Amino acid sequence: MKKYFILIVVIFSFFVLLQCDKDEDINYPTNSKIDLKLPSNFPATKFNVAGYEPTVYGVELGKKLFYDGRLAKDNAVACAFCHIQENAFTHHGHSISHGVEGREGFRNTPPIQNLIWLDKFMWDGSVTHLETQPIIPITTEVEMDETMSNIAVKLKDDKDYQRLFTIVYGDKNITAERILKAITQFVSTMISADSKYDKVVRNEGASFTADEQQGYTIFKNKCATCHATDLFTDQSYRNTGIPYHPIFKDEGRKRVSGKDEDFLKFRVPSLRNVEYTAPYTHDGRFQTLKALLDFYSDGVVDNPNLDPEFKKVPGKVGIPLTETEKTYLIAFLKTLSDQKFISNPAFAE
Ligand code: HEC
Ligand code: HEC
Repeated sequence: MKKYFILIVVIFSFFVLLQCDKDEDINYPTNSKIDLKLPSNFPATKFNVAGYEPTVYGVELGKKLFYDGRLAKDNAVACAFCHIQENAFTHHGHSISHGVEGREGFRNTPPIQNLIWLDKFMWDGSVTHLETQPIIPITTEVEMDETMSNIAVKLKDDKDYQRLFTIVYGDKNITAERILKAITQFVSTMISADSKYDKVVRNEGASFTADEQQGYTIFKNKCATCHATDLFTDQSYRNTGIPYHPIFKDEGRKRVSGKDEDFLKFRVPSLRNVEYTAPYTHDGRFQTLKALLDFYSDGVVDNPNLDPEFKKVPGKVGIPLTETEKTYLIAFLKTLSDQKFISNPAFAE
């Protein structure tokens, strides 16, 4: 009797082992490239995608990492915690960023969109390569406060990751480089170019209302030097006469260059999806577009670095705007909203 029992156990174990072996030999799907559709009204891209060509599973892996709280020390603060899709990947309701344990940073979360057209990243251009960008939030104490090697330890037993890393990179090893490459693939696919404005300028059957058209005309006269091209930024750093923040002490581009002439200069932000990305500017000090335009018109503070664009009207600093002009401008800015982008399942969790 005992012999039979042992025999049954042995045979059973054999089949269990056979099953395990099968798992190892899973037929993984082949990974194919994704062709990014570059909008015809955009300027040339800046990012050299060689080595980062988005693939179906590379992007899927990048997205999974983007939404995974385990990239943070507290296992809760994912990239998507601060970059929320319905707000064009900004942190709605937060002037400055809040990371692990509610720790506060000193800057407003910018949207993640059209990154492959950008030359440098962050409000002060301190990051020059898209691939290295995620290291900053991951390792910053007030953001995710984690290390790349510990992330690898936390994820290595996760079957979904083992599968995805194998499909994308050939084996299940998780390394910092592989994590960063996958996130880069994912964020480089986040293109927003389907607003009403785009449909008007590309002649895709849309047209501006009278108010929007008025706003567009004012915009071209008073705003488009800095908010230039269909990206709505010339990617330069400018001093808009915004008063220095006594608590955050953010010196802007000077933090990077060390030069006094860069004091309080910030990267001109794109205005795409600005309807969804309140609050505004580098420290989110303006809650509404109206408040920002009131500032441009009447709040600009003169200083040695103030941009010449804000000194065009003799005897006044700023960009004088009437209340009606502000209404028109806001109507125009809302034509930059891309409903499809903020609801696209390809970018959702
Ligand atoms: C705690 C909130 C927070 C988290 C978490 C976070 N970010 Fe950010 N992100 C920010 C802030 C704030 C900035 C602007 C920083 C600056 O200008 O110095 C930023 C900037 C960026 C930029 C630059 C955008 C541009 O236009 O220059 C990218 C890209 C980005 N984050 C991607 C990510 C990714 C990927 C992750 C996850 C690995 C992540 N972020 C996690 C708050 C956060
Ligand atoms: C001299 C260049 C310049 C001009 C002209 C200019 N802007 Fe700006 N704009 C900037 C800079 C730089 C910032 C970021 C300032 C900061 O973060 O402190 C900004 C910020 C903004 C923001 C906030 C966006 C965000 O994501 O936080 C809006 C909206 C905006 N500008 C609209 C306009 C409009 C409308 C006009 C025309 C009336 C205009 N700007 C003219 C340079 C300019």
